[in-house]
Amino acid sequence: MNKFARIIGTGSYLPPKIVTNDDLSKTIDTSHEWIVSRTGIEQRRIVTDESTCDLALIASNNALKMAGIDAKDLDLIILATTTPDKIFPATATILQNALGATCPAFDLQSVCAGFIFALTTAEQYIKTGAANKILVVGSETLSRIVDWNDRSTAVLFGDGAGAVVLSGSKETGILHSKLFSDGSYLSSLQVSNKRINEVGFIQMSGNEVFKIAVNHLADLAQETLKACDINSKELDWMVPHQANIRIISAVAKRINIPMDKVIVTLAQHGNTSAASIPLALDAAVRDGRVQKGQNLLLEGIGGGFSWGSVLLKF
Ligand code: UT7
Repeated sequence: MNKFARIIGTGSYLPPKIVTNDDLSKTIDTSHEWIVSRTGIEQRRIVTDESTCDLALIASNNALKMAGIDAKDLDLIILATTTPDKIFPATATILQNALGATCPAFDLQSVCAGFIFALTTAEQYIKTGAANKILVVGSETLSRIVDWNDRSTAVLFGDGAGAVVLSGSKETGILHSKLFSDGSYLSSLQVSNKRINEVGFIQMSGNEVFKIAVNHLADLAQETLKACDINSKELDWMVPHQANIRIISAVAKRINIPMDKVIVTLAQHGNTSAASIPLALDAAVRDGRVQKGQNLLLEGIGGGFSWGSVLLKF
């Protein structure tokens, strides 16, 4: 039996259309200076006619290529998304068919913590021996559920996809993972629809979410390092959910790691929800910052609230 689930390939994809802060300030009462200083976001990518599955397909193929795995050899596909293409079937099954895979595939919905929840679920399948090669994807077309007239949310979100291939390993891989949910925060961050087939938009009490995110993520980061008996100097990289540079730097400060050991891609693509962690990870793998054998802390929080962390040896 394999004791560990190890990442053997990463991939990502961003749709080509760029929307800058200056573009947004032409239609809503905001400015590049406000957005950069309050969030760290400079631009975001927005789909034109691409679907969540279209983005996921390119990210997945990039991850499979790096892993040297054929889609037919996958045992499971888990797609984390808040913006599935249809109510049913699961976008993961549309992706499975597009990839030419034959394994079971399901969607997982945990908003901005979706990738952490999916990675943790996949890890369990590998550790029990139920699967050996798993594709874990985070893909979002959040622009479909953003109210483009609401300046408090429109400036924050973007579209994109990231993916990893996990393989069973006897040596190393995911060392620790922990998930939390607290459904009492429903009104702090949700989509406004009353019925499932009604169009709704993201509604958020930004300031409240900000404070809770900093506190929960900082506590969780400290607990995760402690659980693995790793001090902040032994941590090579933090790969956080990319929501706000002030949240990211506050958490880094609390666990005493310098910002040059934090992967930040927020400026280029804003908050892409379930896609943000694998997008950041793939960028850092491909530019050579993240290397085999390094200790990585992944963590994120989103609507629900749901939050979680994964500490792994890459
Ligand atoms: O992915 C996980 C979930 N999401 C998050 O983690 C996001 C968490 N929250 C945040 O990132 C921040 O709270 C925001 C970036 C959303 C807002 O920053 P803030 O520093 O908390 O601002 P605020 O909501 O307290 O608003 C400050 C002011 C308000 O004006 P008044 O009432 O002081 O006159 C807002 O109306 O900024 C105003 N404002 C804006 N001004 C220009 C809000 N949005 C904008 C905007 N442009 N886009």
